[in-house]
Amino acid sequence: METVRETAALRRRIRAWREEGAPIAFVPTMGALHGGHLSLVRHGRAAAARLVVSIFVNPTQFAPGEDFERYPRDEAGDLAKLEALGVDLVYLPDIGTMYAPDHATWVVVEGPARGLCAETRPHFFRGVATVVAKLFHRVQPDIAIFGEKDYQQLLVIRRMVRDLDMPVEIIGRPTVREPDGLAMSSRNAYLSPQQRRIAPALYRILCETAEALSRGGSAAPSLATAREHLLEAGFTAVDYVELRDAEDLEPLERLATRPGRLLAAARLGETRLIDNLPVPPVARSATNRSDD
Ligand code: PAF
Repeated sequence: METVRETAALRRRIRAWREEGAPIAFVPTMGALHGGHLSLVRHGRAAAARLVVSIFVNPTQFAPGEDFERYPRDEAGDLAKLEALGVDLVYLPDIGTMYAPDHATWVVVEGPARGLCAETRPHFFRGVATVVAKLFHRVQPDIAIFGEKDYQQLLVIRRMVRDLDMPVEIIGRPTVREPDGLAMSSRNAYLSPQQRRIAPALYRILCETAEALSRGGSAAPSLATAREHLLEAGFTAVDYVELRDAEDLEPLERLATRPGRLLAAARLGETRLIDNLPVPPVARSATNRSDD
């Protein structure tokens, strides 16, 4: 496995692979790799002749006062995990090569980037879209793989790629969970033992809410109940629990004939957890119910 920090060296390697005609898969990460990342890497390994993983804690997707400085970093541990999975190249740019001191160009996605996480983190998707666009220009992948745990991010990147004609196929892969249901996330490392005991309630309450929504009727009462249950379970604040269209993230007042996505963000002290679930369209008989 090659580790590359310089963009010129990365470009040379990518050019050689392109000349061989080797398809390239790419998994962008911020490191502190867990089972969720590793499932993306395994998918990439099986999907293409060449596999690149990047590790870059991207400062522009953190607002001042967020956790950029203390975001978990474990370069040696990450490299050992990636080598064991047969990754061809790990790209580790430093901040100076990614952002010039007078960097002034941003990728701003609208549509799916509105609302949800953008309500409390308005800077976030501009930072993500910009760094992912830059990484795509450098790595020139044929496919890129993202986790559904960050479902809004996945749709924002899909929209950017479509709207800016980027020649890369975006693959979304299912969330990987701990045995108690908690979605794997690098930020789970921030949880105290007591918070860690509360955290799986997010998934449990989303499952209960998805079940209630699948019976049809107005979504609002089920979403309000979910917010109450999260607070009762010990979450200190609920940023949102929302039902959205699974493809464009437009708000849904009820499930109908299009697949929905139930998305939530809630806080345990300083730590913000997000999760989401697919909610299939309801049967026509349930859609027609008039009891709400
Ligand atoms: O999901 C992440 O880890 C990051 O948002 C990403 C896509 C690597 C961009 O920094």
